[in-house]
Amino acid sequence: VELVQAVRWSDDGTSVRIIDQRHLPERVVERDLQSVDDVCEAITTLSVRGAPAIGVAGAMGLVASLARHAGEPRDRFASIAAAHAARIRGARPTAVNLPRAIDRMLGVIHAASTGDSVTLLQRLRDEASAILDEDRAMCRRIGENGQALIPDGARVLTHCNAGALATAGIGTALAPVYLAALEGRRIEVFTGETRPLLQGSRLTAWELSRAGIPVTVVSDSAVAGLMHRGVIDLCIVGADRIAASGDVANKVGTYPLAIGARYHDLPFYVAAPMTTFDPVTSSGEYIDIEERSADEVRCGFGRATAPREARILNPAFDVTPAKLVTAFISDRGVHRPPYDFAEGGDWRVEGEAVRRTPTVRPPTSTLGS
Ligand code: MRU
Repeated sequence: VELVQAVRWSDDGTSVRIIDQRHLPERVVERDLQSVDDVCEAITTLSVRGAPAIGVAGAMGLVASLARHAGEPRDRFASIAAAHAARIRGARPTAVNLPRAIDRMLGVIHAASTGDSVTLLQRLRDEASAILDEDRAMCRRIGENGQALIPDGARVLTHCNAGALATAGIGTALAPVYLAALEGRRIEVFTGETRPLLQGSRLTAWELSRAGIPVTVVSDSAVAGLMHRGVIDLCIVGADRIAASGDVANKVGTYPLAIGARYHDLPFYVAAPMTTFDPVTSSGEYIDIEERSADEVRCGFGRATAPREARILNPAFDVTPAKLVTAFISDRGVHRPPYDFAEGGDWRVEGEAVRRTPTVRPPTSTLGS
């Protein structure tokens, strides 16, 4: 089965074609992003989502949004590009893939001191295409590196969606599952619904079913009980940002999963490309956790699910301490503790200087006031 392509260029190459994930699993709706408003709106509303996918869509979206400015004087073009880049970069705060991809695009603008705006736009398009291709290749390598960790008959628990829909390729957490299944191993996946936006039940269950892999959806609250009953063999999740310490920000509800896995002696793997590792954030407490609209909890999917008077907290992510992670599966290999991420060894990101001393950023308050 061909897996879905969550992000790609439109046929004429002028816009970014995404699968609008808000409509899944009911309908497969494609949507073309053209303006900077389109791109930012698609990212903030989770039309396109998942750490690698928003990095790729952000970079490609920047190009699409600049197409109608090609032909402007170069300096003016560069300043419009910088303004668009700043908006896209800030569309969501937690996944590091987005600012990293946008900074790579800004690097192209700074490096190109000669040439007109048409040439510069072409360079930006090439860079965005490279980001897309590299993401695809990294997903594949995560799959190759991780598939041996999934034995025949394994019952694998995942959370949220870290599959093809969350990347330009075959996913991160689901990549080893897909490749192990391709090897002929029988695998059963369990996914928590992933409240409040249900990426587990709407997206992960959809793409796995489409690929013919048996999947069982459980409410998030059922997970610890299933572990206790011996129904789960191992856990694999994705990540939005991995600090130098190995602390992992991922979809809210990941941390309880990791605690459950440790208590029940189950392996807990985190699969992510090198673009999700953030050596300048020293530890999890410095990761900015996105707080989303109260309405997602209060009246999710159009029904009142909490009284108007109740205060709502809706952090979109949580941080799992490094010590609860059995191993990281990246495009470079399987990394087990002690990690030397901050020292560069495992950590090096292609084309980027290794920063040996992580700088500490001030923590941002995450609990609504
Ligand atoms: O809010 P989302 O749906 O963008 O959150 C996505 C996740 O938390 C994923 O697990 C993470 O981005 C890894 S995706 C390969």
